[in-house]
Amino acid sequence: MSHQGIFGGKRIVLGVTGGIAAYKAATVCSRLVQAGALVDVVMTEAAQKFISQLTFQALTHRPIYTDMFHIPGGENIPHIVLADSADLLLIAPATANTIGKVANGLADNLLSAIALATPAPKLMAPAMETDMWRHPATQRNVATLKGWGIEFIGPAAGRLASGAMGEGRLVEPDEIVAAAQMILARQGDLAGRTVVVTAGGTREAIDPVRFVSNHSSGKMGYAVAEAARDRGAQVTLITLANLPAPFGMAVVRVDSAQEMLDAVLTATDQATALIMAAAVADFRPLTVAEQKIKKRGDTEGLVLELVRNPDILAEVAARKATGTGPEITVGFAAETHDLLANAQEKLKRKRLDLIVANDVTATDAGFAVDTNRVTLLGTDGSIEETPLMTKREVAETILDRVARFLMDS
Ligand code: CTP
Repeated sequence: MSHQGIFGGKRIVLGVTGGIAAYKAATVCSRLVQAGALVDVVMTEAAQKFISQLTFQALTHRPIYTDMFHIPGGENIPHIVLADSADLLLIAPATANTIGKVANGLADNLLSAIALATPAPKLMAPAMETDMWRHPATQRNVATLKGWGIEFIGPAAGRLASGAMGEGRLVEPDEIVAAAQMILARQGDLAGRTVVVTAGGTREAIDPVRFVSNHSSGKMGYAVAEAARDRGAQVTLITLANLPAPFGMAVVRVDSAQEMLDAVLTATDQATALIMAAAVADFRPLTVAEQKIKKRGDTEGLVLELVRNPDILAEVAARKATGTGPEITVGFAAETHDLLANAQEKLKRKRLDLIVANDVTATDAGFAVDTNRVTLLGTDGSIEETPLMTKREVAETILDRVARFLMDS
């Protein structure tokens, strides 16, 4: 799989129809192009009253298609070429008129002809006034299209172009892009797999306002979770309560190592893979004060007694030995010295299938930065060193190994 991400090299036909929300299609288009997709924009006549072809041409550096009978660059018949080559047909915004045409098999403009001709998955993002959306004709048409497997995102509720409030707003461009991503992901090599990922540190309470924690930012785990999602996996991300939730996965919020353990055991019951990117605190305060600890007059210091936390990977490995739990477990080893020896030892002791070792003393890798350089150690004795890459690329490399392992097992 390409390390460019899910959109790398994918051909997306972006159909833009005539509504005021057409200007937002430019943002959708730009995001897709930036993510590496080849975007062919098809505009209806009405769409061109709201936004110019030039906008999309500048964003895509490609010809814009508007007419069934005009062939830019003298290629073959556009609706056939575009229909055959598309990995996804995305119509955003989709008006009541275009939804109606497609639902009724009409092909009187280029976009509706492509919709009829293409075998590619289709996603529509409707935008219209509330009454048009709620009209039985529109609802019937949407139901027909859904029945054929065409997917919809939105409309959202909110302020409409008329000034009225109601259902009918185009959903935000980022959500449209994320939905497109989910559809493409179904063709990925982790489709049908359930992957549990942990990310970030843990927080071990001292009293109601204080905790012991570490510098883990969660970035590596998030990159793994997002990459697994984009390769088609059903992802459960178990992470610290204060990090934002990525789109398209189940997020379980935890604070302490004990909570993380409970969440991991529940989530891995039915999972294919566990990837433990979290930096779990090894120790927690023996007791959690019920009330805020006050400094008393002349106290000079405070002694905190710590006790060992459960080892989450060890508990999962113990279950695995009894035939339950995930097929593959991947651990991380963040080390400051003797990287390989320490990682080898953890691989064995924690009965992992793969361990991702990194030297956290490097300034361009490890905690909080967007890049990482890791060594992957497998139970088969393999040692694979990566160059400095983005955390997303590291995530893809880890998942290449996971996918290969699952294919072989
Ligand atoms: N880990 C875990 N439960 C713990 C501690 C760590 O599941 N209580 C997991 C981490 O998520 C990571 C791997 O074990 O994937 C290695 O974590 P690390 O902190 O490097 O290992 P430790 O077992 O804590 O060893 P040490 O403290 O000796 O470095």
